[in-house]
Amino acid sequence: MELEWSYLFFFPIILLPAFILFFSKKKTSKCSYKLPPGPPGLPIFGNMFELGTEPYKKMACLKEKYGPVLWLKLGTSCNIMVVQTAEAAAELFKNHDISFVDRFIPDVNLAHNYYQGSLSLGRYGSFWRFQRRICTVEMFVHKKIRETVPVRRKCVDNMLKWIEKAANSAEKGSGIDVARFVFLASFNMLGNLILSKDLADPESEEAAEFFNAMKGIMQWSGIFNVSDIFPFLRKFDLQNLRKKMARDMGKAMEIMSIFLKERQEERKKSEEKGKDFLDVLLEFEGTGKDEPAKLSEHQIKVLVLEMFLAGSETTSSSVEWALTELLRHPEAMDKVKTKISKVIGPNRKFEESDIDNLPYMQAVIKESLRLHPPIPFLIPRETIQDTKFMGYDVPKGTRVLVNTWAIGRDPECWGDPVSFNPDTKVSVYQESQANTRITR
Ligand code: HEM
Repeated sequence: MELEWSYLFFFPIILLPAFILFFSKKKTSKCSYKLPPGPPGLPIFGNMFELGTEPYKKMACLKEKYGPVLWLKLGTSCNIMVVQTAEAAAELFKNHDISFVDRFIPDVNLAHNYYQGSLSLGRYGSFWRFQRRICTVEMFVHKKIRETVPVRRKCVDNMLKWIEKAANSAEKGSGIDVARFVFLASFNMLGNLILSKDLADPESEEAAEFFNAMKGIMQWSGIFNVSDIFPFLRKFDLQNLRKKMARDMGKAMEIMSIFLKERQEERKKSEEKGKDFLDVLLEFEGTGKDEPAKLSEHQIKVLVLEMFLAGSETTSSSVEWALTELLRHPEAMDKVKTKISKVIGPNRKFEESDIDNLPYMQAVIKESLRLHPPIPFLIPRETIQDTKFMGYDVPKGTRVLVNTWAIGRDPECWGDPVSFNPDTKVSVYQESQANTRITR
């Protein structure tokens, strides 16, 4: 945890209001809620010192004692409900999705009003629905994914060239950082898909600056922030996280403004080119009834930044873990290579369309995602109203985490749950895919 240490001197004084609040609450309020069970925790700090650096693991251990729904308190006012089994998660998403639909807004996302216009942090309502609709229709449907195959092909080919070059120039016996290349390629792929820009171009200063700013944003978002637990500390920004976020977010927004201007100039010249996601957002004209008439510059910039934030590290860490598991399990590596060779033969490259004919490779990836989910708690939710959930009373404003790390390793769902074993799960994964398949 990064702290601005000089401020810590004042920490006891700053916490004084929390002490007063805590003891006055104890005397006056009698709670009639039936909250989910959880460890008692310390006065003022609650359970914040019990969770360690990998809280999803610690919480998974608490499942045995407290059951599928865990209650934690961090600081004086941050109540957290953790959903720890597949059954409880299904109950939440199938029967209570509206009660748990909002997302908790971390302090760093107040910088440059990022949260206003963010799809992942937006409040439930017509704009929330509209954002999901436009992203689904313009980016995620199979038709769009099929149309953008050549873009991904180009980016993967480039990545293979970078890796080959690095391998050839590396000293004998020393390794190369494949994960870094996969991250660069994922980022570049999004740049090509969304902005039609080669953000890995070493000649482009703007591209390098944008990349660095986005790396900063990802870094500041991932650090535990005391302001998220003690809201009255927000104004002190003890870890300087909001300040750093404001700097990098400001830079990314500034560069996005340049990209938008360039695009508007290009469109004036009206050269007939294929539309990318940025064109779709710029050209959008809604009815104004349950969707906006136009998207503001801020909304466009935030939505585009969000795609980079949501899509680059998730993709690269998933690839990195799958490769790691294959290296740890040479028999699975051999098998996946043999299956790929059989499908593509000796004279051509691997194509995305081959994936459908490679259930074993799909099982490798899903097995790796099961054991190493890139967002172990999903995006933290917040209850929009008091809710009865699995026999418990969950007050409005409770933060809700879905512990996918624990769910993926639940012995009631998976035989030998901590082992990487794609061989035994090919049919399980195929079946679950068939059940969840949306019309293409
Ligand atoms: C292997 C790759 C990926 C994995 C494992 C992954 C996983 C996830 C997960 C677990 C969530 C949180 C869902 C929730 O809390 O409800 C999420 C949200 C999201 N992802 Fe991905 N993702 C991947 C790639 C991408 C890519 C490439 C994009 C964009 C092009 C993307 C865009 C988004 C967006 C916009 C959200 C927020 C959705 C919402 O708020 O409803 N993701 N992703």
